[in-house]
This record gives sequence, structure tokens and C-alpha cells, in this order.
Amino acid sequence: MKQIKILLVAGARPNFMKIAPIYHELKKHKQFLPLIVHTGQHYDKDMSDIFFRDLKLPKPDIYLGVGSASHAVQTARIMEAFEPVCLKEKPDLVMVVGDVNSTIACAMTAVKLGIKVAHVEAGLRSFDRTMPEEINRLLTDQISDYLFTTCKDADKNLMREGISKQKIFFVGNVMIDSLEKVIARIKRNKNAKIKQPYVLVTLHRPSNVDDKKTLLGIMSALRQISKIVPVIFPVHPRTLKMLQAEGLEKIINDPGILFSKPLGYLIFTSLMSNAALVLTDSGGIQEETTILGVPCLTLRHNTERPITITQGTNKLVGTDPKKIVKEAMKSLTLPSPLKRERNKVRVNPKRPQYWDGKAAQRIVRILINEFS
Ligand code: UD1
Repeated sequence: MKQIKILLVAGARPNFMKIAPIYHELKKHKQFLPLIVHTGQHYDKDMSDIFFRDLKLPKPDIYLGVGSASHAVQTARIMEAFEPVCLKEKPDLVMVVGDVNSTIACAMTAVKLGIKVAHVEAGLRSFDRTMPEEINRLLTDQISDYLFTTCKDADKNLMREGISKQKIFFVGNVMIDSLEKVIARIKRNKNAKIKQPYVLVTLHRPSNVDDKKTLLGIMSALRQISKIVPVIFPVHPRTLKMLQAEGLEKIINDPGILFSKPLGYLIFTSLMSNAALVLTDSGGIQEETTILGVPCLTLRHNTERPITITQGTNKLVGTDPKKIVKEAMKSLTLPSPLKRERNKVRVNPKRPQYWDGKAAQRIVRILINEFS
């Protein structure tokens, strides 16, 4: 039997939890031969290796080792390195996930070689074309053959952009497949819980961290919040570089804020599931907090994931420090958050359709139909 060869592309931290459930599901079916391609867009141990371990993924079959560079150079390097891989491996399908530079670079390389492309997490739109991720989403969707979506809004966005209905498959959210698995593991480890309420923060969007005024404003909001409730802040390398470049390292010594290096998937998810509140500018965390029932304030003016607001625990608060502090205090139901049980500040979100841990199964069922 000739196996259907699928190159599963991952490059940056938020990709690993999306490819993991698809890889594990494909491996259950003998007709598929999935190979993992790691572009090396993220290369630090804390941003990459630890995720392979936590998600029980094998070492990548192919490592492109492109590293960091400007957008054009990074995208071009990925394409240059991926083309010979496609020529050698002759895959039946290239699967890309999310919206990072590796996503568009590998999709574009494959499609020009006549290889079919599947995009997982298609159709999300922030309608903000100043975001590099929005450009990556728009372009990847235009050239993909299979568009797997997480919600009905995404289907509508794609159809509005003229994409044929036949190519769109509403399958749910693979990121939640990974979350469900890890939550089961966390629940078994009762010692992991911190007994005191805390706020968990992540920050890495260029619009927030590359601009000194915005970064300083957010940091001052965090300091004010940390006077009431401790703040845990695992710092993304991009954010650390900016803090250092702007001479802001002294902020890192703030007593109310616990800074750390980027954390692995297991420990981060564990912290997130027990947090009183999450402040973030990440896309995936808006989805994960929705499922965990943890209040989330998103430090952005828009989101490509509106379902996390309409059905989840997410609220957009922008980057004005006064607004961030006000909303955080509201969410923590001050004046006495320390006296409250953390589970009392939980909200009960609705679970969006198909965010049920079975999205990868749906994807693989569709691939079986398409390729047999
Ligand atoms: C990228 C994605 C973003 C995603 C984010 C998650 C794009 C356009 N952006 O943004 O969508 O939400 O990853 O983390 O693809 N760096 C390290 N070590 C690493 C990786 C990066 O030090 O392992 C440094 C690099 O020197 C670089 C900076 O962090 O200057 C940013 O990395 P990059 O991959 O360009 O973009 P992110 O901001 O991480």
C-alpha cells in the first residue's frame, strides 16, 4: 500500500500544540505517513524543545534551522530551505497551521510546486492589516486547497473573500485537543497548585512591545496591579530584548512581579488554569482561557477570535494603562480579592461548537475521504 505522505509544518511556539493532535491522530492510521518539519523560526530550548517533550511529539524529521531575521529575510529563508525538502520528499500534502511566517512561507513554496496545501485554523481575521499575522492569514487562505476552520465566523470570512465552499471544512479547534489532554494530566498532579490568587501575563505582539511608550504603559499597569495581587510574567524573548534595549531591566526587579523565562506547555497551562485573571496579547491564550473558564483581558484593540468574547471569558481592553488597571480590578472583584476563593471569580463560559478535543479526528476523517 502506498502511504499518503504529509509534511506537517511547525515553526514557532504557537504551532507545536496545533500539530501535535494531528500528528498523533494521523499515526493511528496506517495509510498516512506524517513527517514533522520544524522550520526553526523559534529555536530557543524554552520556545521549542520543551514543547515537543510536553506534547509527546518525536524529534522533527526535518529541521530547517532558519532562525530569526526580518520578515522578508525569515520568510525567504524558510522558502529557500523548504523547497528542496518538498522536491526530495514529494509529499501528497503539506499541512500548515496558524498565522506565523513559517505558515505562509511553506504554503507558498508547496503550492508553486503543485503540492496540495491544507491550512489549519483558516479564516480568522482581525481586519487589521498592520499585523504581520493578518497578512499571513489572508495569503495562506487564498492559496490553500483545504481550509480547516475553528468556528463559523471563519467560514463566513473565507466565503466573503471568494473562497469556494467546497474547500472549507468546519472541524473545530485543534489547540483545544491539546489543552484537553494536558488538563487531564494536570488534574492528576494536585501539588502543582499555587494556593494564593495571582494574575498571569504574556506579552509579545510587536505593536505592544516594540513601541517604548506602549510597553512602558503596560508595565506601569502591571506594577499597579501587582500591588494588590501578585503578577506572574513569563517573558517572551522579543519582549525581553525590548526591555533590555530600552534600559528597562530595572523593572524586572519589581517585587510584586515574578518574571521568568518562557515556560513549557505543561507548566504554563497549569498556571493558566489556576489564575484569577490572565492578561495577554496572544491569540491562542484567548481561546484556552475560554475553555478553562478563566477571565482574560486582551491587551489589544481587536481580535481575530471574536468567539472568545461572545461565547467565552475574553474582553478587549486595549493598551491604555488606566483602562487595563480598571478592568483588572473589576475582574478581580476588588477590594478584597485575596479573601475570595479563586473559583468564585471564575466565569462560566459556553464552550464553542467543536472545541471538544476531537478536531484532529475530524480533520483526519476528511483526509481519509479526500485521499482514498
Ligand atoms: C511569532 C509569530 C507570532 C506568534 C509568536 C509566538 C510571526 C510573524 N509572528 O512572533 O504570530 O504569536 O511567534 O511566540 O511569525 N527569538 C528568540 N528565540 C526564539 C525565537 C525568537 O530569541 O526561540 C527572538 C528573535 O531574536 C526575534 C524575536 O524573538 O527577534 C521575535 O521572534 P519572531 O519569530 O520574529 O517573532 P515573534 O515575535 O516570536
